[in-house]
Formats: sequence, C-alpha cells, structure tokens
Amino acid sequence: MRKSVPRTALLCLAFSALWLSCGSGKRETPAGGAAAAAAGGPGAMVIGFSQIENRNPWRIAQTLSIQEEAARRGIRLVYTDAEHDTAKQIEDVRYLLAQGIRYLILDPREYKESAAALVLAKEAGVPVIIIDRLVMGVPGEDYVVSIRSDFFDEGRMAAQWLVDRLGGTGNLVILSGTKESSAAMDRQAGFMSVVHAHPGVAILRTEDADFLRSLAQRTMEQIIQTEKRPIHGVFCHNDEMAIGAIQALKAAGFKPGEDVVVVGIDGALDALKAIIAGEMGATVTCDPYYGPLVFDVIERLEAGEKVPVSIIIPERLIDKRNAVEELPRAF
Ligand code: AHR
Repeated sequence: MRKSVPRTALLCLAFSALWLSCGSGKRETPAGGAAAAAAGGPGAMVIGFSQIENRNPWRIAQTLSIQEEAARRGIRLVYTDAEHDTAKQIEDVRYLLAQGIRYLILDPREYKESAAALVLAKEAGVPVIIIDRLVMGVPGEDYVVSIRSDFFDEGRMAAQWLVDRLGGTGNLVILSGTKESSAAMDRQAGFMSVVHAHPGVAILRTEDADFLRSLAQRTMEQIIQTEKRPIHGVFCHNDEMAIGAIQALKAAGFKPGEDVVVVGIDGALDALKAIIAGEMGATVTCDPYYGPLVFDVIERLEAGEKVPVSIIIPERLIDKRNAVEELPRAF
C-alpha cells in the first residue's frame, strides 16, 4: 500500500497542505493544485474526512495520501482539521455530516471521547470508516471497518530492540502521546509487556508530551534537570517526540546514541536521518499512506462486497542496518 513519491514533490505538497489547513480548518479537496481541481465535479461521490491535526509530518503525509487518492478517483473529499482538539473534532464531524457525505472517514483523536462522533454518524445514517486510531464502539455496528496499525505490536517491537540494545538492564524514561488515544495506550501497553519480563529494566519516569516535538523537548529538559538517577534509554510514542528528546539531551551535554539510547515510532524522515547520524537508536514504522487502502475498501462496499471489520497494516523496525534503504518511504 505504500507508494513512492519523490521527496521534493512530497515536501512541496506537504507545505501546501499545511498552508491549506490554516484558517477555519475546513477545506474541500482537491487541495493538490489544478490537476486535482478537475476531480470530484458535480455528481461525484462526496466523502468526509475528519483529521486530528495537520502539523506533524505523519499527519501531513496521511492527509495528502487521502486527498490525492480521492482526487485520482474523482471523489469529492470534504476535509476537516480538528487542530488537536477532541471537542472540535466532534463539531467537525457534525459539519461533515451536514455536507451530504456518503461515508465518513474518521481518525479519532481519543478512544472514549471521540465515540460521540459515531453516535452523530449513526443518527445521520452515514457509514463510518475508522482509520489509524481506534475508538470505543462495536465493529460492524457502530462503524463499518477499522483500518490501522497494531499499536501494541509497535510498542512491543520498540521495547524489544531497546532492551536488547541495553543488554537487558537500564533506567528508562517514556514520553507518551495523547493520553486518551489508542495510539498512546496500546503502544505503552506493548512496550511494558516486554519491560515486565526484564527485572533489570526500571522505568524512571513516564510523562505525557501529546505526540508533540516542542512539548517533548521541554518535558525532557525538565526530566534531565530533576532526575538524579542515570538515564540509559528514552522511549517516545512517536518520532516527533524522539527528535524533541534528542534536542534536549544534546543541549544538556548528553551524547544520544552513545550514553542514552532514544527509540521512537513512525518511520519519519527526521528520525531516519537521526538513526543514520547515530543519534537515535531505532524506530518502528507506522504507515500514514492510507489513501489507496481506504478508497479500495469504499469501492468494495459500493460494489456490495463484504469487507472485514478490522484491517491491520503490517509494520517493521528500522535501525542503522536498514535506515538508508527505508529513506524513500519516509515522510
Ligand atoms: O495515531 C498515530 C500517531 O499519531 C502517530 O504516531 C503520530 O505521529 C500521530 O500524531
């Protein structure tokens, strides 16, 4: 399902998407220029996409993948950006449902709070396709299908790599993502499933940095200032936070990669560069390229086919051994 796009083109598109996401937060695809503008004319199927936020490279890549694929298939996509706010996401869904959409593509920010969006969609009679994060609800009843990565397994893979790298002992710090999100909860659970099997590994601190690079940097600075015990490893629930942690460590005189091993999740370009430079240990991929898979599922539903209620995207570990070959797929 991954596609390969020249990185310069991807960056240009990323910047235009970032710019378009400002303002009201509500935009209609096509957002990819003149070619895309020709798609989704009168009579086209209208589909709503509720995005969580559109600033981190993972989100930008996910938004672009969905926008480009909609344009390619002549689908009119109505897109909203919740700007990292669950209450806004519920209001966005209300707006999308009022646009006469045939399906709602929902990336739910929180597991429980975002379930209100499912109630609204059910009342409106609009089928929901959940992508990326899970939301509380009955698969096949409250939503048609969820398409996502296995976050537990991502956390487990990150932990196994880190524990092996530290030889089975060490003091760890964890920077976690948005507290009530399935991404943070499941990655944490997967990570801890490995840690619990290693009595020599201690978790010194677990702090919420909301999947944000700047907050992770500030949080790591505070941890460095107040934590008297040695820190051997840092696990971050995404690569943005891993980069923030590395910046804080370097500013405090640490040599990440030598005296502290930092591990993230996503497979972002900055993380791969940091791995190649020896400053970051490893990352686990979390595929943001949802467009082709989502619209394939919608086509199957339109053709009256049955689709499974859960589709899991396989992920893999990246470290120094394969970081260079993974570069073309990074975002
Ligand atoms: O839900 C997936 C996570 O959300 C990605 O790891 C992260 O970068 C994003 O904010």
